[in-house]
Amino acid sequence: MSNTTDGLEDVVALHSHICDMDGKLGKLTYLGVDIHDLARNSSFEETVYLLWYAALPTRTQLTAFTQQLTANRALPSQLLDMMRLLPKTATPMEILRTMVSALSAFDANPQDKSLDASRHRALHLLAVFPTIITSWEHIRNGREPIAPLTDGNHATNFLYMLKGEMPDPVLARMLDTALVIHADHELNASTFAGRVTAATLADMYASVTSAVGALSGPLHGGANEQVIRMLMRIGEPQHAHDYIANAIKNKERIMGFGHRVYRTEDPRATHLRAMSEELGKRANDMRWYDMSRQVEEAVKELKGLYVNVDFYSASVYYMMGIPIELDTPIFASSRVAGWTAHILEQYSNNRLIRPRAEYTGPKVTEYIPIEQRGE
Ligand code: CMC
Repeated sequence: MSNTTDGLEDVVALHSHICDMDGKLGKLTYLGVDIHDLARNSSFEETVYLLWYAALPTRTQLTAFTQQLTANRALPSQLLDMMRLLPKTATPMEILRTMVSALSAFDANPQDKSLDASRHRALHLLAVFPTIITSWEHIRNGREPIAPLTDGNHATNFLYMLKGEMPDPVLARMLDTALVIHADHELNASTFAGRVTAATLADMYASVTSAVGALSGPLHGGANEQVIRMLMRIGEPQHAHDYIANAIKNKERIMGFGHRVYRTEDPRATHLRAMSEELGKRANDMRWYDMSRQVEEAVKELKGLYVNVDFYSASVYYMMGIPIELDTPIFASSRVAGWTAHILEQYSNNRLIRPRAEYTGPKVTEYIPIEQRGE
């Protein structure tokens, strides 16, 4: 075995009809539909339908689909009770991972992998993610969770449950767009983790739990939270260049930069940059946007790296008044659409995913009985 690729870089592990990306051209499509068209014109609900049903919905189909999503937003009360028992120091991603896993206990037959049952399970998971995330935010701060809206789209409902009041429609539309552009991204680490689990024919809860765990790391979805913490340390736009120069000198990773596939601008970042600027103008406070621009220029100049999706989403969510620790859970509440699309695809044409490792340990080691090994 000599063609080993650490990190599986550029290894094509499976066939998929869901998402296509071109790292050199910075192109991204879902089922062939350009991400820029989706970001400008689509809604999260429509995008999820596209990912799960491989076609854009008619108006009637979209209405029915949205109604089903809305009807599935409530959490079993036992899950809320479980949350109340857990230490308030647990992060929202830990709670999300735990609650997804616990949900399987409320499914009469989680092993039923028929297409209908799996699609319904995916819909339920997607619908309850915002309920889990915002309920924990309230519970850990000593407040009662806010019940989901019985209408309103995913983004509106998320902001409503978080703040307890109907959101500004402009902010809700921005969050909707952010959800659209995070919904899928080919075989990223969390989707791969989800597919590996599904390929053992484990149930969807186990597969999505794997995916949530993989997303939480700072090299993947956890990066957005680290970006805003970095911007806070920098403090002012005029400090950005020195901060970055020093970080690069110390061989630190700059969060929100670099990508395994893109060698040019991440097409999703284009929309988030524009949102960050617009939010700064609306608030008459350009500090976060200006600082982000300065960091972007400095990293490009000193390290030749481009921003990825996590860089501008950080300032966008911050300016929307979203608590920092919810940045990665918001990513999850969108990406669960892609995870479940991939899990459905995996179940429909399954083969166990089981690669090899190139062995680098000792060739032959004599077994010495424990009495003869010394102290
Ligand atoms: N800051 C500083 N140096 C970097 C960065 C960065 N963000 N990204 C890559 N490099 C350097 C790295 O040090 C290495 O340099 P050298 O060859 O001199 O040692 C070179 O670029 C290649 O890095 P790599 O780690 O082998 O590249 P990778 O393809 O394995 O890493 C990555 C991809 C996303 C993990 C990496 O770019 C990174 O750590 N970025 C910061 C974390 C981040 O923003 N993650 C979000 C990724 S995109 C959305 C998502 O998945 O959530």
